Amino acid sequence: MSNELLKVENLEVQFKSGSTVTKAVNGVSFTLNRKENIGIVGESGSGKSVTATSLLRLIPTPPGNISGGKILFEGKDLLTLSDKEMRDIRGNDISMIFQDPLTSLNPVFSVGDQIMESIKLHQKVSKKEAKQKAIQMLQLVGIPAPEKRLNMYPHEFSGGMRQRVMIAIALSCNPKLLIADEPTTALDVTVQAQILELMKKLQDEFNTSIIMITHDLGVVWEICHKVLVMYAGNVIEYGTVEEIHDQPMHPYTWGLLDSQITESVEDHEMLTTIPGSPPDLRQEIKGCPFAPRCSYARDICFSKAPEMVEVKEKHFVACHFQTKETRLNRKERSTHVRAVVKS
Ligand SMILES: Nc1ncnc2c1ncn2[C@@H]1O[C@H](COP(=O)(O)OP(=O)(O)OP(=O)(O)O)[C@@H](O)[C@H]1O
Ligand SMILES: [Mg+2]
Repeated sequence: MSNELLKVENLEVQFKSGSTVTKAVNGVSFTLNRKENIGIVGESGSGKSVTATSLLRLIPTPPGNISGGKILFEGKDLLTLSDKEMRDIRGNDISMIFQDPLTSLNPVFSVGDQIMESIKLHQKVSKKEAKQKAIQMLQLVGIPAPEKRLNMYPHEFSGGMRQRVMIAIALSCNPKLLIADEPTTALDVTVQAQILELMKKLQDEFNTSIIMITHDLGVVWEICHKVLVMYAGNVIEYGTVEEIHDQPMHPYTWGLLDSQITESVEDHEMLTTIPGSPPDLRQEIKGCPFAPRCSYARDICFSKAPEMVEVKEKHFVACHFQTKETRLNRKERSTHVRAVVKS
């Protein structure tokens, strides 16, 4: 059995509205091995969720369209499978925790019914066995008194509990790949830590690989082996967590790191923000998409798109000035500061 679980090659996704085309994902490539976790980071609108939902072919079509690339899962290109084959893969081999748990849980069915539904859809089990398994899953994700909770409705659960239910549903079929789109963003830090612990525990138990989409680099450092940094639908940096953490290279990644609140940033200390905003993806982008916001940009950055280069082993960067031959000197955080307001 090959160790490589997923290989995404040059994935392109567009949305069409009239004569306008939004290039939401523009040539994303990465690989994921079994039991390995990859973090996808980037500002809002950079194409993280569109990439993730495309992997399951759940992009609304139209207006969306996977216009190019390959998604090789255990060597099979998911883009060539029939709808029926794809349904078998969803929830069986690959499952997803969506960005908004409230909209993904159905308010008119009890939580138990929704977990059992998912179990019965993919496993040949009796109603009684499905119920037993649902109770087990709720127990596993740390929901107290699961027998009683089974009959309750999503609105009777707290945000953290609902997120656990989503995880229980996603893991009820022991998927080989779990895609988690901001699974902890809406939660307070204590619950967030519990959910991450839970995911690590479940990963050990089920050997699941995880694609973790998050705004929080702390989460990436904690559970991921690789990082994919996205900007305006493009991957601008990709590498092992050690590389990206210790020697980040793209000026955009520097900006992301500098704008994170970390334990070393004391109250009232200043944090850097990235000036400006991402480009309009409906317009043709000439050159490097980050150039207009990059304090290191020179003429070439505005006229020629940089290619992704493996500058060091397992570390890829798309920047004209971060190559095998040349390196930028990372500036001190100086401009565009804002005060940290800690609650
Ligand atoms: N259904 C849709 N129709 C048209 N455009 C869409 C649709 N879904 C996403 N997009 C566009 O695709 C781009 C990428 O969106 P995506 O949701 O992947 O961002 P994201 O990185 O997940 O952001 P966030 O961090 O806010 O969740 C955005 O410009 C968005 O407007
Ligand atoms: Mg998103």
